Amino acid sequence: MAGFVGASHEFHDAAFVRGWASRFVPTPPRLQLFDMILDQIESLGLPQAHVVELGTGPGYMARHILQRNPTISYEALDFSEVFFDVARETLGALSGRVTFTSADLMDPSWPDRLTSRPDAIVSTWALHDLGGQRPVADVYARAYSVLAKGGILVNGDFIKPDGTLWDYEPGRFEISRHLEFLRAAGFENPKSLALLEHNLTDPTAAQNYACLVATR
Ligand SMILES: C[S@@+](CC[C@H](N)C(=O)[O-])C[C@H]1O[C@@H](n2cnc3c(N)ncnc32)[C@H](O)[C@@H]1O
Repeated sequence: MAGFVGASHEFHDAAFVRGWASRFVPTPPRLQLFDMILDQIESLGLPQAHVVELGTGPGYMARHILQRNPTISYEALDFSEVFFDVARETLGALSGRVTFTSADLMDPSWPDRLTSRPDAIVSTWALHDLGGQRPVADVYARAYSVLAKGGILVNGDFIKPDGTLWDYEPGRFEISRHLEFLRAAGFENPKSLALLEHNLTDPTAAQNYACLVATR
């Protein structure tokens, strides 16, 4: 059996966004990804790390991280005001620790919108939505340019698993290509920490995501 894996979204439509957010709730494997990302941030050993999330969406990862670490300063970047509204609701009182930065990741000047130099840039299930390999590689290059020396990029995103017979939308591509792009951007030691919800035979659009990490 083979088919197509992909999804289309209406990121600026309130009904779509709220419906999507109510379906894509944190499940145990998604929480495992959040924990891996938090571990990477904490491994920096910084007392007050500045963390920037690319594509904050409904704020599920932001909430997970902020609930568990009281000192991180968090900057939530997205281009959807509707998703910012949902993220504020998800975060409740934790919103007070978050700077909401409106920017389009397809615009190469997005790093100029950040309030301060990040120690970590993190993202989950967002960069594949940029629609292809080149925009993701460009985001990696810009992330490298804005990160503090010794800082990290951690991208948990949908990929195309090796050995699949299925077609995947262009933003979902092989882990090896991600690692090539990270290396080309200048990052040291890019690697994949895990491939979660791995499904070769009958994948859904919510399965097959990797946790990619690289150091500036
Ligand atoms: C799946 S959601 C992220 C989920 C989030 N990481 C969480 O844990 O709740 C993807 C987000 O990426 C944002 N996004 C997609 N394309 C973008 C772009 N070009 N610039 C900025 N944000 C974008 C969408 O608006 C959406 O909020």
